[in-house]
Amino acid sequence: MKSSKTRCLGILTAGGDSPGLNAVVRAITKVAMGEFGMRVLGIQDGFRGLVENRILTLDDATVSGVLTRGGTILGTSRDKPHSMPMGGRLMDMTDAAVENAQKHQMDCLVCLGGGGTAKNAFRLAQRRGINVMTLPKTIDNDVFGTDVSFGFDTAVSIATEAIDRLHTTATSHHRLIVCEVMGHRAGWLALHAGIAGGADVILLPELPYDLEKIAEFLLERRRHGKRFSIIAVAEGALSRREADALAAAKAAKDKETKETKETKETKEKDKDKDREKDKDRRKTRDLDRPDKGEGLGELSTEADDVDAFRADLTLNVSRLHDETMAYHVVQEPMASRLARHLQALTGVEARVTSLGHVQRGGVPTAFDRTLSTMMGARAAELLAEGQYNVMVAYRNGVCVPVPLAEVVGRKKLVPADHHLIHCARQVGTCFGD
Ligand code: F6P
Repeated sequence: MKSSKTRCLGILTAGGDSPGLNAVVRAITKVAMGEFGMRVLGIQDGFRGLVENRILTLDDATVSGVLTRGGTILGTSRDKPHSMPMGGRLMDMTDAAVENAQKHQMDCLVCLGGGGTAKNAFRLAQRRGINVMTLPKTIDNDVFGTDVSFGFDTAVSIATEAIDRLHTTATSHHRLIVCEVMGHRAGWLALHAGIAGGADVILLPELPYDLEKIAEFLLERRRHGKRFSIIAVAEGALSRREADALAAAKAAKDKETKETKETKETKEKDKDKDREKDKDRRKTRDLDRPDKGEGLGELSTEADDVDAFRADLTLNVSRLHDETMAYHVVQEPMASRLARHLQALTGVEARVTSLGHVQRGGVPTAFDRTLSTMMGARAAELLAEGQYNVMVAYRNGVCVPVPLAEVVGRKKLVPADHHLIHCARQVGTCFGD
């Protein structure tokens, strides 16, 4: 057995699930145990399982046969330790999370997730000195610092196959079909699947579109005898008007929050100091008290995150954008609104297909299985070396550690001058801009 600076690690999967999660859990467990003799613990349902102390031992038997399985055998949740719904209220459960990690003698908490998960893990490292490591998972491929995240390739394949299928029916009926794929902030999935599936129009959150320009493009196709069209749209794509309204509202909100941020940070620091003092006091006073990890916490003061804010705003913006919204209690899905407008502008019958969670389900592709296995095995090696507070990134064909400080709070978006956008334009794809 090789020597290892890490003796015990806990693994959790957090955020939306993604094909390849099980392959990573399997690889870390096999290498950490088999090559370095580490004890491997599996935490159920993300950070919630850590807070609620739902932790089990992983071994060869538990990870056997999961390489090809979609989803996550550990379960997942979108909960964050510092702001977790508990009994109808948002509570700061960081104490419970830290106490449970310590109780199980975890030398490192390995978190498989996207940008939000990295943020939550890093917060635990910074605020409470817990060693963490993250591995980039998301079908959106928007984790900063890695060339690719596991799960993305599978989602691209699923969306591409769907676009292929839509082509045949759109051709038969001479229709426009709007195919909505996932991606609130980043359009990687729409871009890759759109190119691979030969979509005529690709709409990304990063490139605000102009409806009239798309309609003109579609009519031009028709004039050239092409009586059908496929529009691949990321769920976060916005019209120019919506994007401008969003930017203005965000600037106003930023200005408002900036003023209160400093006050809040000072308060948080004071709270941390008090907590430390309180902990020392408790240590000396309550040495033989039973474990208090479960169900305890403080009321969270965390503000809504940017994504929630954006979702809200998008709703409001779309209300402004469309007078008919006044009659709707529920927001009309973006793809359906787009199809309706394009049908009105072009006179061509339009249909909508929203792929939704189909893109996150089922078996990972060969590439994702390989990537996940590489990342998991490398993670175990890095743990053995005692490299903590890093993300295992995939860069130029190899897995390397990247300091979490360089990754957290940043998103990998599609640059307007990306070579794939250029290449798609060369083959006649319209981006509506
Ligand atoms: O994981 C990111 C993502 O796939 C987004 O593209 C999508 O908007 C979101 O998850 C939806 O996830 P859920 O419905 O599980 O919250």
